[in-house]
Amino acid sequence: MASTHVTWDPIFRRPKAPRAVRDGRISITEYASSLKSLRRGRVKILVTGAAGFIGARATDLLSPDHEIVAVDSFDDYYSPHLKHLRASRLRESTGVEVLQLNLSNAQECASVFDSSIDAVIHLAARPGVRAPVQDLPIYVNANVVALTNILTNVQAYDVPQVFYASSSSVYGDKIGSLVETDPVLKPVSYYGATKLAGELMVDAVSRLDDRVFVGLRFFTVYGPWGRPDMLMWRLIASALGGPGVGILGDGSAQRDFTYVDDIAFALASLISHSNLPAGSSVLNIGGGNPVSVRNIIDIVARAVGEPPLVTFGERMASDVQQTHANPEALTALLGQAPSTRLQDGVIRTVEWFQSELADGTRLLDLDDGN
Ligand code: NAD
Ligand code: UGA
Repeated sequence: MASTHVTWDPIFRRPKAPRAVRDGRISITEYASSLKSLRRGRVKILVTGAAGFIGARATDLLSPDHEIVAVDSFDDYYSPHLKHLRASRLRESTGVEVLQLNLSNAQECASVFDSSIDAVIHLAARPGVRAPVQDLPIYVNANVVALTNILTNVQAYDVPQVFYASSSSVYGDKIGSLVETDPVLKPVSYYGATKLAGELMVDAVSRLDDRVFVGLRFFTVYGPWGRPDMLMWRLIASALGGPGVGILGDGSAQRDFTYVDDIAFALASLISHSNLPAGSSVLNIGGGNPVSVRNIIDIVARAVGEPPLVTFGERMASDVQQTHANPEALTALLGQAPSTRLQDGVIRTVEWFQSELADGTRLLDLDDGN
């Protein structure tokens, strides 16, 4: 692919402002223009969780324009084989190699940092809202300790920008449009609590610091190379001949489903943004169109041409009844919010599934973690 990158003066590569602005070493105008130079150019990004669902897609989209250092622990929350498959497809399509290491280990985390990193996209985590209480230490280790290690190294190596995955689950069980400025956040899953702990930790660190920290509250992401523990994967797999799906509740629960390319696009837009404010902020990355589980079952049935096999049971206490992103802040910042129509995203996901199955990828036999 032909490169259209603007070359930029290395002096502006990693601006130290606004501390430098405060110290009077450069003017605010110089700082703004240095950021613009940085943003127009190719930047070096550390992507964590790059063998994961969102991380692999984000790396794929960002790699033609940026230098990527990709890491993942390939943990066994769900099939590590699927993570290795994503990583090998990524290597084939982009040349990016996903390094295997555990970010919860301070030394291993430090080993991937150096002073040439311009931004971190931290997606590595233990996801899923329905894990048993015995797994709590795993979640704290993956979601809080790893983030702590990232923050220490960001400070040590003076990385100017950090984008990290938070979650719609920080809002808790609320009906109606969820706004970032809501002062009352009460997660109902301990996974959500670890994500909120991360936001609070970043916010506190940002007060001692001058860099850009953006917490990304993703809303139920789906798409090709998805996660086999999630509803969308399970329904499609079932309609294509896989096992039946236990529906947790009566199917009235609603989710603001977000197509994975919209997430990757938002990340690419944030990386290229010329004017993100220093300090800590959070953003909903969701389109604002909640759809019920019953509706999703119908949409999948239409897209596959066969209905998934479902049985209805009890709702889980760590599940919320509805998620509904308010996308106004995201739209104001990036000019658009996730907009892929659910029907279109489901068709693309089904097509991906069918093409992998036709190529012999054993997607229906993967360990889905629970
Ligand atoms: P995923 O599980 O597919 O990807 C996360 C990756 O992180 C995995 O490949 C895992 O092996 C890796 N990882 C876990 N602990 C690690 C550690 N200590 N060191 C290095 N790597 C480690 O999940 P995903 O769906 O791609 O989610 C990405 C991020 O977005 C996560 O932070 C998740 O909590 C968040 N999120 C996801 C969704 C969604 O719907 N998929 C919604 C909201 C938030
Ligand atoms: C998803 C991710 O799994 C979390 O990691 C993430 O943090 C969260 O989105 C988020 O938006 O922040 P969830 O919305 O629960 O969590 O996504 P699914 O696992 O796909 O579940 C969606 C709905 O389907 C829920 O109502 C759930 O109860 C239901 N479901 C899921 C079932 O009925 N059966 C299943 O087998 C799986």
